[in-house]
Amino acid sequence: MADASDNRPLIQAVGLTKIYRVGVETIHALRGLDLTIERNEMVAIMGSSGSGKSTLMNMLGCLDRPTGGTYLLNGRDVSRMNAKELAQVRNEEIGFVFQSFELLPRQTALENVELPLIYASGGWRGRRQRALAALERVGLAKRVDHRPNQLSGGQRQRVAIARAILNKPSILLADEPTGNLDSATTTEILALFRQLHAEGQTVIIVTHEDEVAAHCQRVVRLRDGRVLSDLPTAKDIAGRHLPMIEAAAAAAATTAGKAGA
Ligand SMILES: Nc1ncnc2c1ncn2[C@@H]1O[C@H](COP(=O)(O)OP(=O)(O)O)[C@@H](O)[C@H]1O
Ligand SMILES: [Mg+2]
Repeated sequence: MADASDNRPLIQAVGLTKIYRVGVETIHALRGLDLTIERNEMVAIMGSSGSGKSTLMNMLGCLDRPTGGTYLLNGRDVSRMNAKELAQVRNEEIGFVFQSFELLPRQTALENVELPLIYASGGWRGRRQRALAALERVGLAKRVDHRPNQLSGGQRQRVAIARAILNKPSILLADEPTGNLDSATTTEILALFRQLHAEGQTVIIVTHEDEVAAHCQRVVRLRDGRVLSDLPTAKDIAGRHLPMIEAAAAAAATTAGKAGA
């Protein structure tokens, strides 16, 4: 798709804040977070428990709106969208993968993958073909009729990944996708993410495992709802990430300047 928004970064978050209110308590989950991510980056988000990783994923994935700041996705201002618009953007642009796979236990792999297509055009046959193609892409062509309890953990996560890439999302968001997997299976799933990345997919992975982060090209560390550091890894062979990191740092300096004024 070629339109005017194509030369903008895919993700541009400036001064993002998120406040949760629980009873009388106010929780500042994000406290002015700046982040710029370009198309086809593969980024790890790290940080200790409670640092805001999942909250950030929820914002980036349009599950929820920030309390303050701006979030431009493909040049569109998500921070101003209503619930219906958010749902539409989420459906068109975002694929989610979770630690717990989130598969329906009674449905086959194929049925689980078809799920996001319930409202899609193309009819039953078209939907089935797309779901089969996605399962083939993740290496599960021979397991399409298996239910989750007939699959290994790694295979379940593959089903979830097939479901996530079905709508050709702009961003594949994975929140601790290998948290429930042993190390051999972790390596296998990361190889799959890297394959998708090599084919053009933008991938953002929340993880606390250094081994997982090492497969990415860039590591963003959060602390207390802000970016603590944003660094390229050894995988960033082409050095394409430095300009983006510098851009984010410049945005952060501007925000800090405003806050200080
Ligand atoms: N839905 C919610 N309601 C209230 N507080 C929340 C909610 N989600 C997260 N929090 C709080 O926001 C902070 C950041 O949480 P989270 O984003 O889940 O961190 P992480 O994923 O890095 O562990 C924590 O203090 C957490 O308790
Ligand atoms: Mg979390």
